[in-house]
Amino acid sequence: MSHSQTDHIKIFDTTLRDGEQSPGASMTLDEKLKIAEVLEAMKVDVIEAGFAIASNGDFECVKKISEQVKDSTVCSLARAALGDIDRAAEALKPARSPRIHTFIATSPLHMKVKLQMEPAAVLEAIHHSVSHARRFVDDVEWSAEDATRTDLDFLCKAVDTAIKAGATTINLPDTVGYGVPEEYAAMFKHVIENVVNSDKAIFSTHCHNDLGLAVANSLAAVNAGARQVECTINGIGERAGNAAMEEIAMAIKTRSDIMPVTTKIETTEIMRASRLVSTVTGFAVQNNKAIVGANAFAHESGIHQDGVLKNAETYEIMTPESVGLSRSVLVMGKHSGRHAFADKLKELGYELGDNAFQECFKRFKALGDRKKNIYDEDIIALVDDEVATAENKIQVMSLNTYTSSDGRAFSDVTLSIDGKDRKTVVYGAGPVDAAFNAIKALIGFYPHLQLFQVHAVTAGTDAQAECTVRLEDDGYLVNGQGAHEDTVTAAARAYVAAVNKLIVKKEKRAPGHRVDSVQKTG
Ligand code: KIV
Ligand code: ZN
Repeated sequence: MSHSQTDHIKIFDTTLRDGEQSPGASMTLDEKLKIAEVLEAMKVDVIEAGFAIASNGDFECVKKISEQVKDSTVCSLARAALGDIDRAAEALKPARSPRIHTFIATSPLHMKVKLQMEPAAVLEAIHHSVSHARRFVDDVEWSAEDATRTDLDFLCKAVDTAIKAGATTINLPDTVGYGVPEEYAAMFKHVIENVVNSDKAIFSTHCHNDLGLAVANSLAAVNAGARQVECTINGIGERAGNAAMEEIAMAIKTRSDIMPVTTKIETTEIMRASRLVSTVTGFAVQNNKAIVGANAFAHESGIHQDGVLKNAETYEIMTPESVGLSRSVLVMGKHSGRHAFADKLKELGYELGDNAFQECFKRFKALGDRKKNIYDEDIIALVDDEVATAENKIQVMSLNTYTSSDGRAFSDVTLSIDGKDRKTVVYGAGPVDAAFNAIKALIGFYPHLQLFQVHAVTAGTDAQAECTVRLEDDGYLVNGQGAHEDTVTAAARAYVAAVNKLIVKKEKRAPGHRVDSVQKTG
């Protein structure tokens, strides 16, 4: 594999592994499967589905994603331990294109303090782990954790050992987000030039964003010969996060004049992926975030607006459509019929069963009565909410809130619990507080609220609200989402969605977001 032969940059998405390691970003199996589906639709080359040995939940995720995904390579992380690698191989068995990703730290600090291993023993562990992984799969990635603080001569020895043992991808991570572009690029150049067999592997970048340089460092590494970039949707990940996939993909696409490389990423899927990850994790995307922030394509000043109206290129270096953002064109209204609604769902990529379709259509009509213009974003929020909550044991049947300007409120809530309607009226310090209190009184347990977040799906005071609620109970951490044209109802639906997840987790007694047996790594 000579680096000059190819200009294709593989995109390795680690939203489901490194991304999920963001504190509070727990995702259920169903949510991970949904994200994996979108990643595949985006034509991501490699999906890192989890860390199979970390917990039974992680194992199950890697296995189920391996069963579901057909076009992308599916990967599991494993430490340099035979048991880890066996577990990864087991979980990856159903995958059409499996990859084992094994790693060990190579910096003096990590080897001495964390691993308590001599450098020679680390080289031996690299040899054993990579050769063991090659017994199961042909596609083995090896990572030098904390590469940017590793002695360069030792890094070359470690890479040489990994390639000789059969590693086909060599990843040199900036684990602690310490590197700067020139230095990171120089490290790649040095290793590629000094390791005799470097042309037998693809070199990969993996950057954390502690200094806000993750994307810049990744692109510098590409310039120096890296042909795989590891990244996450919205840049979620440990601490300040990982390099953001949407930024890497759009930078490469927009500046092809100076970066003669391409990715396979279907960039029109970017907004869908961003919204899904934000909703599932409860991590809001900041308004001024590049590519996917609410203001990324908004023009406030008169001069800019005038320029854009005359020619969008005056202030836009890429089009909103290229990242999957419609220019909020009116799509439907309350007079749109069943047929038009079915066509719209098809266009948005939904295939609903009969019951789900009827329910969504009912809600669409109700929304049309209250909201003049209905956009794609409205329909996506409504259908996602309906599909996610339809099977739940507990459902919100009705909710009325009464508020007064002195801050007091009470909420009259009816829930269906196991098919039976139960109703109560409870006071609170505001409408949302009252609704949550009523729900707690009805379900009979009192989860701890860790996060409550609301965002408007579209512009305008009649916009639907999309809420995320994070609850903790008995060591389990879950996120629930809900959407509705009434903000308090959206909040209640999100709360109840989270409660349903808690109940499932407790019934299964599956370990929550906690990692019982393994210390996860960034
Ligand atoms: O940041 C890091 O070093 C990692 C490795 C496990 C690749 O996530
Ligand atoms: Zn990492």
